[in-house]
Amino acid sequence: MSYTERDAVKFAYWVPNVSGGLVISDIEQRTNHSAEYNRKLAQIAEKAGFDYALSQIRFTAGYGADEQHESVSFSHDLLAATTTLKVIAALLPGPWNPALAAKQIATISYLTNGRVAVNIVSGWFRGEFHAIGEHWLDHDERYRRSEEFIRALRGIWTEASFTFRGDFYRFNDYSLKPKPATPLPEIFQGGSSRAARDMASRVSDWYFTNGNTPAEIARQVDDIQEKARANGHSVRVGVNAFAIVRETEEEARSVLAEIISKANPEAVNAFGHEVKNAGKASPEGEGNWAKSSFDDLVQYNDGFRSNLIGTPLQVAERIVALKHAGADLILLGFLHFQEEVEYFGRRVIPLVRELEEAKVLAAE
Ligand SMILES: Cc1cc2nc3c(=O)[nH]c(=O)nc-3n(C[C@H](O)[C@H](O)[C@H](O)COP(=O)(O)O)c2cc1C
Repeated sequence: MSYTERDAVKFAYWVPNVSGGLVISDIEQRTNHSAEYNRKLAQIAEKAGFDYALSQIRFTAGYGADEQHESVSFSHDLLAATTTLKVIAALLPGPWNPALAAKQIATISYLTNGRVAVNIVSGWFRGEFHAIGEHWLDHDERYRRSEEFIRALRGIWTEASFTFRGDFYRFNDYSLKPKPATPLPEIFQGGSSRAARDMASRVSDWYFTNGNTPAEIARQVDDIQEKARANGHSVRVGVNAFAIVRETEEEARSVLAEIISKANPEAVNAFGHEVKNAGKASPEGEGNWAKSSFDDLVQYNDGFRSNLIGTPLQVAERIVALKHAGADLILLGFLHFQEEVEYFGRRVIPLVRELEEAKVLAAE
């Protein structure tokens, strides 16, 4: 066995298409949600060795995110500005229906040589649904709808004539032409509740989860992979992290301390209230933010819990530990995206590749 590209952990970054960056804090952030900033960032990222960029979908303001550019059109713009980067466009069933989404993404796939992917999100922000006149379904109903949405996307993209009888969507001998370019757009999903894990084990190509320790990630991965095997399905796992990489550990830790000390408590608590409510509505009363503390919630998706905070070597070692817990992809947020994505590609990714190769050789 030798180390191949397939063994290499993948890297993605969060597209800052929403204002305020990735932390709910008044700390200075040299990150901007403009198109100009994001095009340059995407170009830096693909040169730095990033495989994917993930856009966000938000319909209304809240918790420091006053302005939000739409995910599919923004993703297309980034694809037009790059040549190898894959861009994952977030889709929220409800506002999107699968017929429009399948058509829109097939066209972007055609325009960009198959570099577009999708992230199906199921919704956590009740106020947003209310604002745009969308029904707020129960937690598990949201996932039942998302699963039908994914089955419909895949069916439309792969079948010559697609018929589907669901509780949320119906199709009758529908033929989408042209189909998306090859490879087909990959289907990601976000969430970590039991409903999310079950859905991933049946229909998604990728399962995205909030930041966490290797032990907690391993627990989720074991559950998903066991169910996926039983379903004859194959799924890969992406883990969120907020990276603070500096030449010394003290420097990195002091940046984290400053982010938290400058957090906006009202916004963090309101965000925590909303997301914890969304998760509590699941039958198990759990979900992505079930165990999040105030400090965790300062980063939208518990990114500090993955602990990619330290020197390049410390961070590279922790990435490899997450990989060994079952992560196939690390999704990253940064304080100053352009500078830090470039630094991460120069100082961290080469160390990760060395450590991965050494592990493979040691196993031979
Ligand atoms: C990596 C990742 C990205 C997400 N992106 C979005 C997004 O752009 N818009 C959104 O409304 N929800 C987003 N979500 C939220 C999820 O779709 C889901 O509603 C939330 O994680 C709660 O799920 P759970 O109760 O199953 O844990 C994202 C979640 C993760 C993990």
